[in-house]
Order: sequence, then structure tokens, then C-alpha cells
Amino acid sequence: MFGYRSNMPKVRLTTDRLVVRLVHERDAWRMADYYAENRAFLQPWEPLRDDSHCYPSGWQARLGLITEMHRQGSAYYFVVMDPQETCVRGVANFSNVLRGAFHACYLGYSLGEQWQGQGMMFEALQAAIRYMQRQQRMHRIMANYMPHNQRSGNLLTRLGFEREGYAKAYLLINGRWQDHVLTALTSTDWTPQRGG
Ligand SMILES: CC(C)(COP(=O)(O)OP(=O)(O)OC[C@H]1O[C@@H](n2cnc3c(N)ncnc32)[C@H](O)[C@@H]1OP(=O)(O)O)[C@@H](O)C(=O)NCCC(=O)NCCS
Repeated sequence: MFGYRSNMPKVRLTTDRLVVRLVHERDAWRMADYYAENRAFLQPWEPLRDDSHCYPSGWQARLGLITEMHRQGSAYYFVVMDPQETCVRGVANFSNVLRGAFHACYLGYSLGEQWQGQGMMFEALQAAIRYMQRQQRMHRIMANYMPHNQRSGNLLTRLGFEREGYAKAYLLINGRWQDHVLTALTSTDWTPQRGG
């Protein structure tokens, strides 16, 4: 197939316990289920989300925009799923992808309440980061967390992210500007693309 959809990345990674794949337009109800089920749990850690996050109709519009970003290579939104791909257990988003002399992006993630503390986000991110480094050739992946978000800090440390700084009133989380610890993972074996 060529034309409109030919440059659409189809990425599906498998790990011991999970499928980690790019979200697509048929995931609207799965995404709505994830955010509806985990609404109260995620609220302290995320920007305020309007009700549309809990309805498939809200996700249809959002997934159209995300699909366009996938096509342009400006963001990669992954869903973390059970091996049968029936439900979304978590999300891992690589956004603001820049190339040229930067080759960098931001990483954000969350895991459903019932899947906490089992090493699942670690497993999912190992695979997704490998894809972003090897296939998308990201030299720097940046991830930031609130100082009291111990679980997120531990996860990033285990993945090899290093602390680079501290930003005051950095992100509007749950309606309040919150300080963040700034971290990044840089590739040690990045090489220029042949012919480019
Ligand atoms: C941040 C978040 C994704 C971390 O989830 P998590 O389950 O703690 O992360 P991991 O996948 O790294 O799992 C680590 C835990 O699993 C345990 N574990 C069990 N089996 C494991 C295995 N096979 N491999 C690795 N860890 C395992 C670890 O001991 C650890 O538990 P502990 O913290 O009680 O010691 C999650 O807490 C979350 O979604 N929080 C809300 C949203 C959020 O904060 N997002 C990030 C904003 S910066």
C-alpha cells in the first residue's frame, strides 16, 4: 500500500509479559476505559484531565491528532497491554521529538493502579526506549518527576536516567505548578545515519 498511509509507523514490541505498541485510532474505548478506571489514582500525578478522557468519543478526536503526529514523526504514543491486547495497562508517551543537532524527546508515562509494583513499567519502557534509540535514533530522552514521586524517580534511576537539574514550578500538575527533578538518558553509541 502506498500514498496517504504509507509512512505510518506500525510498531508492536513484545516483552515477557506485555505487548507495547503505538496507540491507533481503534483504541478509543480502551483508552477511555484506562482513564476512567484510574482517574482518582492518576489525578495527583498528572495535569487536570477533562471528562472527555473517560469517553471513547473524546478519544476519537484525540487519537486523530496523535495518529497525525505519528505520521509526522513528532511524537510516539505507546500503550502497554496484556499479551492478548484486550486492555490498556499503562501508557508511555515520547513527545516533542526533535531531530537535527538535538535528536531528543520527552518521555511521560503512567501505569494502572492494579499493575503497580510488579516491574511492568520498567519492562515496557526498556522495550520502548530501545525502539526510540535504535529506530528513531534519539540521542537524549528527557523525563522529569516531582520530588515526592518516589516510584517514578526509582523507575528512572533503574532505567539509567541521570539527574541533570531541578526546575521550580515546572509543570501544572493537578492544578498546581509543581517543582520537578530533571533527568535524561543519553545514548553512548549514537552514530550519524549513513548518507545523512
Ligand atoms: C511511576 C509508575 C509508572 C511506577 O510504577 P512501578 O510499578 O513502581 O514501576 P516499575 O515497573 O519500575 O516497578 C517497580 C516495582 O515493581 C517491583 N517488581 C516486582 N517484580 C519486578 C520485576 N520483575 N522487575 C522489576 N521490578 C519488579 C519492584 O520491586 C518495585 O516495587 P517497589 O517500588 O515496591 O520496590 C507508577 O507509580 C505510576 O503510574 N504512577 C502514577 C503516574 C506517574 O507518576 N507518572 C509519572 C509522572 S513523572
